[in-house]
Amino acid sequence: MPFFNISDLIWDDFIYPRSARKQQTIDAYGEALTAGAAFPPIIIQPVINYSAPNTSLSEILLLILDGIHRWSAYKVLGLTEIEAVLWQDQPLDYATCKDDMLLESARRNINHGDRLSQTDKRQVARDIVTRDPEYQLSEEMLAGSLGVTQQTVNNWIKDIRARQKASRDSTIHRLNRLGWTQQKIAQVVGISQARVSGIIGNTNFCIIDNLIAQGREMPYIAGHLNMDLATAWAIKLTGLKDQEKFKALGWGLRTWDQWYFNDCDDRFGTDWPGRIPAQLVAHTLFYFTDPGDLVMDPMAGGGVVPDVCLLFERKCQAFDLAPIPDRPEIEPFHWTADTTTWPCTREPDLIFFDPPYFTKKKKAYQEKADPQTPPISSLSRHQYMQFFTRFFELAHENTRPGAILAFLNADWRDFESTPAKKESPDHAITLFDFHRLLSETGWKLTHRIECPLSSERLSGTQVKNMQDKRILGTVSRTLLIAKHI
Ligand SMILES: C[S@@+](CC[C@H](N)C(=O)[O-])C[C@H]1O[C@@H](n2cnc3c(N)ncnc32)[C@H](O)[C@@H]1O
Repeated sequence: MPFFNISDLIWDDFIYPRSARKQQTIDAYGEALTAGAAFPPIIIQPVINYSAPNTSLSEILLLILDGIHRWSAYKVLGLTEIEAVLWQDQPLDYATCKDDMLLESARRNINHGDRLSQTDKRQVARDIVTRDPEYQLSEEMLAGSLGVTQQTVNNWIKDIRARQKASRDSTIHRLNRLGWTQQKIAQVVGISQARVSGIIGNTNFCIIDNLIAQGREMPYIAGHLNMDLATAWAIKLTGLKDQEKFKALGWGLRTWDQWYFNDCDDRFGTDWPGRIPAQLVAHTLFYFTDPGDLVMDPMAGGGVVPDVCLLFERKCQAFDLAPIPDRPEIEPFHWTADTTTWPCTREPDLIFFDPPYFTKKKKAYQEKADPQTPPISSLSRHQYMQFFTRFFELAHENTRPGAILAFLNADWRDFESTPAKKESPDHAITLFDFHRLLSETGWKLTHRIECPLSSERLSGTQVKNMQDKRILGTVSRTLLIAKHI
């Protein structure tokens, strides 16, 4: 039986689920060892991707799965080696296998030594189930590993499962409302298509009306149903006319082509660099789409467009190179100047395109992206323009006449430290450039809507500095509306 250096073995508090080592047991083992008793070998497991002081993630480290008290007693006695066997010969990836190791450790602790207390077991079951939203572990399997009845496991975890179920059902309703097929929803949620169909067909949302009648606010209702706020609002507003929805959401409807909104509405979209106000998207949908139309968002960021589509009963397909994990409606897609594939599965009626404004927020987008799939804000000016030529062509090829492209952007000028008179047009990218590219790729510009940014972002000192140097800032942001002709 192989011996291992005591100091090379790691007690991982997560895998070895004891609230604390029991000193009494360690002392008793120490005495027995001194008296010449022999103990069975402890169980250890080689792992990689484990973060420990002074080691790299690629290093193979040894975690103790069973035998913490024996190992501790050896240490107290000043012994340097201990007999151990490997649970599995091959090193396991810590992040992906830690639950398996936790269960194995718990299983081995059921029948010998200091048994796990019921509190420990309950905690193990709850920890594992919390990390298993897709229901891969059965109650039967957990009961077997922990040495308790299935009923006990059920009592320990039923509240977590109920919350997971509600949030899973909310995801199903969300994706269904956005127009996803039941087959695709089933793949994302990890249950059968028949169950998805059952959940869509059998859910009754009267409870929302009941809670509203009791005077509950929407954040409370969403939390109570373990639902995201946008889906809860969407269900509440179902069937109302667009104008009634604006009213219910507290948004004044702008009648002219100047859409200024002081702030983003925090209820919709996730906080994200460059997030836009939901009201801006709502106005675009109101004027340029009908309920049931399909909206595509090629660079969806924090998901404002899908949220507003939900509210206004439009279908939506959304993409981004850095999709947010709890927003399954945003699918991963990396656009480049060479992209030939079009990820949308149906022809969209409207494309809402809010790309990075050249290098603005470049660092923030880079931090969200994988180095293999850089954001377009990292491109040179020339490459950035080439990218848009290709995108506008591709969008034209994949839409039918009458489809609309709503393109949001701001003038990018090298004004930061340059007096207006000295700015070089060769450095700038302005709405005029996008206007030209759209016209050259088959799109007919129909509207130019001003959606200014707030100038309050600049401090008094910055404004004074600009004035002194005659720097002309830019707060204009423009929504170009173009039609496929
Ligand atoms: C202005 S933000 C979109 C913000 C979004 N409309 C919102 O309100 O949250 C631009 C988005 O484009 C994405 N992006 C940049 N380059 C991309 C590329 N080459 N392919 C896919 N997405 C890209 C970024 O990750 C970022 O989320």
